[in-house]
Amino acid sequence: MSAQPSLSLAPGLDESEVLTAEPAVSPEESALPELERELVKRLRTGRAALPVLPAVAQSAIRLANDPDARITDLAGLVDTDPPIAARFMSVANSVIYFRGWVTSSTQSAIVRLGLASTRDLLFQVVYASTSGGLRRYQSAVQASFRRSVIAAHAARVTSRELSIGSEYDYMSGLLHDIGESRVLRILDGITAPSTPALVEDLVEKYHESAGAEVAMAWKLPTEIVDACAAHHDPTAASTPHVRLVMIADCIVNALEAEVGQEKRELDFEPFDRLLVDPSIARRLIEKTRPFAAPEDQI
Ligand SMILES: [Fe+2]
Ligand SMILES: [Fe+2]
Repeated sequence: MSAQPSLSLAPGLDESEVLTAEPAVSPEESALPELERELVKRLRTGRAALPVLPAVAQSAIRLANDPDARITDLAGLVDTDPPIAARFMSVANSVIYFRGWVTSSTQSAIVRLGLASTRDLLFQVVYASTSGGLRRYQSAVQASFRRSVIAAHAARVTSRELSIGSEYDYMSGLLHDIGESRVLRILDGITAPSTPALVEDLVEKYHESAGAEVAMAWKLPTEIVDACAAHHDPTAASTPHVRLVMIADCIVNALEAEVGQEKRELDFEPFDRLLVDPSIARRLIEKTRPFAAPEDQI
């Protein structure tokens, strides 16, 4: 699919020149590596490299929560954004969603999927469209996106298997690490000295807050903001919807660890910390595995 969804940085948010006023630098910050200092400054503006949410995705979340919403309303909206419509149709007809049918009409695709799954897939399309155009960290951003799609499926599988019953299971799994691509995009625009290890550390350290800001800017439900903000905080495991994403992360890690390994030696310790016993962990991994094939992603 060659069409590119019409996602862009917010007007005036070219990260190379986003700062208009020099924020004060604390003594602690001045001891940081130059790359990190610059990243912190740009994140502090609160808007650096924040992708704009296309109108169709904004409407999708509203319509999916509206009992009176009509399929034709959402289909009409999707069709007003041809690049998004094209990507959406491609995903809707993809292997995972293939139910013995292929359609070229947005409306019939939405009828088959339902409003909630349509909303989820539109956000996947929107997220995919933030994964391009980087000079140095393109493969890292794409890897983050691929992991996120698997996490989305893992979160849905977990929600169903453990009866967590989260309406935003898929979206929470999908978007919890969206801060990684935001941090990488900001770093891509900074010319200070860097090493792969430093970049990895900075992504690890700042992606939660950076992602929560994206979720808030997009006015996503609190459940998703929480998942972005706290999925590496062990104390947040007592919050069911954050624990759900933590379990999804463990599943993704387990599936990634299998790659290239002849004999699968699963590490159940991370699951144990989330009160998921090994037999359940195994089941969650098995049920997520079919979604981890690269051809099943956009
Ligand atoms: Fe994360
Ligand atoms: Fe993650």
